[in-house]
Amino acid sequence: MTQHPSPSHSTAATLTLTEKASLTSGAGDFVTEAIGAVPAVSMSDGPHGLRLPKEAGDGGQLDLHSAAPATCFPPAVALGSSWDVALAEQVAGAIAAEARDNGVHVVLGPGINIKRSPLCGRNFEYFSEDPLLTAELGGAMVRGMQRSGVGAALKHFAANNQESDRMRVSADIDERPLREIYLRAFERIVRRDRPWSVMSAYNALNGTPLSENRRLLTDILRREWGFDGIVMSDWGAVRDRVAALTAGLDLQMPTTRGRTDAEVVQAVKNGELAAEQLDASVERLARFAHRATAGLSAPADPLDYEAHHDLARRAAERCIVLLKNEQDLLPLDPAAGSLAVIGELARTPRYQGAGSSQVTPTQLDTPLDALRDLAGDAVVEYAAGYRIGGEPDEELLVEAARLAAASDTVVLFLGLPAQDESEGFDRDHIDLPAAQPALLERILEANPRTAVVLSNGGVVRTAPWHERVPALVEGWLLGQGGGTALARILYGHAAPSGRLAETIPLRLEDAPSHLSFPGEEGHVRYGEGVFVGYRGHDRRANDVAFPFGHGLTYTTFAYGDLTVTQTPADRIEARLTVTNTGPRTGRETVQLYVSAPEDSRVARPVRELRGFAQIDLEPGQSRTVTITFDRADLAYYSEREAGWFVEGGTYSVAAGASSRDIRCTAPLTVDGDVSTARLTGRSTLGEWLAHPVGGPLLLEAFAAGRAQQGGGAAGALADPVLRRFLTGMPLEVIAEFPQSPVPLSHLDALCERAARTPSD
Ligand code: BGC
Repeated sequence: MTQHPSPSHSTAATLTLTEKASLTSGAGDFVTEAIGAVPAVSMSDGPHGLRLPKEAGDGGQLDLHSAAPATCFPPAVALGSSWDVALAEQVAGAIAAEARDNGVHVVLGPGINIKRSPLCGRNFEYFSEDPLLTAELGGAMVRGMQRSGVGAALKHFAANNQESDRMRVSADIDERPLREIYLRAFERIVRRDRPWSVMSAYNALNGTPLSENRRLLTDILRREWGFDGIVMSDWGAVRDRVAALTAGLDLQMPTTRGRTDAEVVQAVKNGELAAEQLDASVERLARFAHRATAGLSAPADPLDYEAHHDLARRAAERCIVLLKNEQDLLPLDPAAGSLAVIGELARTPRYQGAGSSQVTPTQLDTPLDALRDLAGDAVVEYAAGYRIGGEPDEELLVEAARLAAASDTVVLFLGLPAQDESEGFDRDHIDLPAAQPALLERILEANPRTAVVLSNGGVVRTAPWHERVPALVEGWLLGQGGGTALARILYGHAAPSGRLAETIPLRLEDAPSHLSFPGEEGHVRYGEGVFVGYRGHDRRANDVAFPFGHGLTYTTFAYGDLTVTQTPADRIEARLTVTNTGPRTGRETVQLYVSAPEDSRVARPVRELRGFAQIDLEPGQSRTVTITFDRADLAYYSEREAGWFVEGGTYSVAAGASSRDIRCTAPLTVDGDVSTARLTGRSTLGEWLAHPVGGPLLLEAFAAGRAQQGGGAAGALADPVLRRFLTGMPLEVIAEFPQSPVPLSHLDALCERAARTPSD
């Protein structure tokens, strides 16, 4: 293995302008330039396995459909439902090992965009509608890769939440939802897990394309969060290379065969682009290239692809979500008679989504074969019931119903065809293809002992039919080991432990983003603000089919003794006891939600996930679970304060088995942050009174004024209706009232005092 010289402090000084320009764009579709002492970096998609284009390492032509085989692990939609941080790290480590085996330095992932709408065609590549869960799983993937010496490319930065018009649309987002929802996972991962690279998104944010967005790429990512890696563009995302470099984008991908390099050279010559700006990108790229190539120079053990297949299968088991299980229909008992396996998806599984993340698996398990393997002597018969992507077919329906009637139990596989969801376009509904509900009706008529298994990358509507199905399993897209994983869960060889990382709504129309998705005429306004996913469903008190965080297993758990304390290091620590009260070993995912004080000065979600923990418990076993988070996580993002702000007051901390299955709560009283926003004459009476310094000063001034003038506006504060009326008025308006205790002429002095006097 070639040893590269360690990064010099000024690579830029050793290169010509032309060389610098060409270093800041790709050499091929997935490889960067090797220039001077800077080695080439080879990249591959990502994120749930390697999509090894034929050109990897040799600069040849890209062929999306003939990737070399690699292990296809569960895509993010499934891994997100595992809530299993250690597992995500392990999977990423295995992907990195395969990357090393193939000479790939950087894997293009994880994708950590928030699932804003169930319709996003690429939701299968994203973890969750919740930023904390996204950050925990995405961060684990970054750590898993980078610990193995392979770089991660955190993508798509930022607010790439739809595929419609993805290369042009402007996501128009207010600062608070931007910070609290759409940037939050990026911020957490960048600060904590230090990815070597970030990929800028195709879309624009509030009018400025992300690849040219200096505020995002430089002010926030680098200056605020301390990012020290490179920013590469998404493939083809750069429209104006000079503007991109100026904004802080280091690497244009893929190659433009010199076209935009010439523009950069020209721009430096004519002063349009500062030479230092280009040099800064060159230094960052040199550092990145040395870092990335060093990772591969250490010797690695020979790879065991069978062991990776086994990991893909074990990971898939953790991702499966048991949504419903009445009459203990599951787990299946092989001794309980014959089994009908119905649905083409049992024989021809969907296990990943379409687009740039598509992996050619090393092998593929099918649910049908795996169920047959585990059935022992029981009879397992199969009927297709429908053709994937086809219309209802009477012959197939009749054959399937006949089989269902003749069998003791039915497992019916339903789900989305590949053509319904892909990178590049959004869905326009969340229903199953028409042939499938028709089949379900026939099967339930023929045999009510039917368990339904779903395969889908984006959420599908389960209402109203889920009410009549005794058992329902959400299998998402599970990667190449998913077939065996499903069979092992169905037969109880493994206990289900997945939890929904996104809400399954009753209807598409209930989705909080519904009225403003996917936008029009080049803009999508994120009108629901911070009320994304369960935050919106809860705030609007929507009934949902299955809530965020929901998932059953083959046993039950009891929660108790919740205590919540604040540590001297400003951590919030919740402790509780969880007991396995059922007959089988199982894994519980304890979720910790926090509700803001009722008098919060901004609109708050009913509750927000602030932590979670997983525990494995034998029947009858109890354990204490501790979940901690930072006091700073109680903050909302305040535009007025221009930063995160923790309100003082009493929060409610709740431990639950889902966002709608809260088992115990405890109060937490915290001191608030001190406002740094200056009070002015335009500040309202309410804002003055709520301010720790301004409030007492104003009351003092009122008291003095009242003593002089008797009554007036100050006296009005004693009347509850008048006080409410005045609360929303700027103080300068009140100051003009006749007999105002704080006349306009005193206002400036009062504002000065409020700004000068420290609060204790
Ligand atoms: C996708 C990225 C991907 C890149 C390279 C783009 O179209 O948005 O996620 O990494 O292509 O294949």
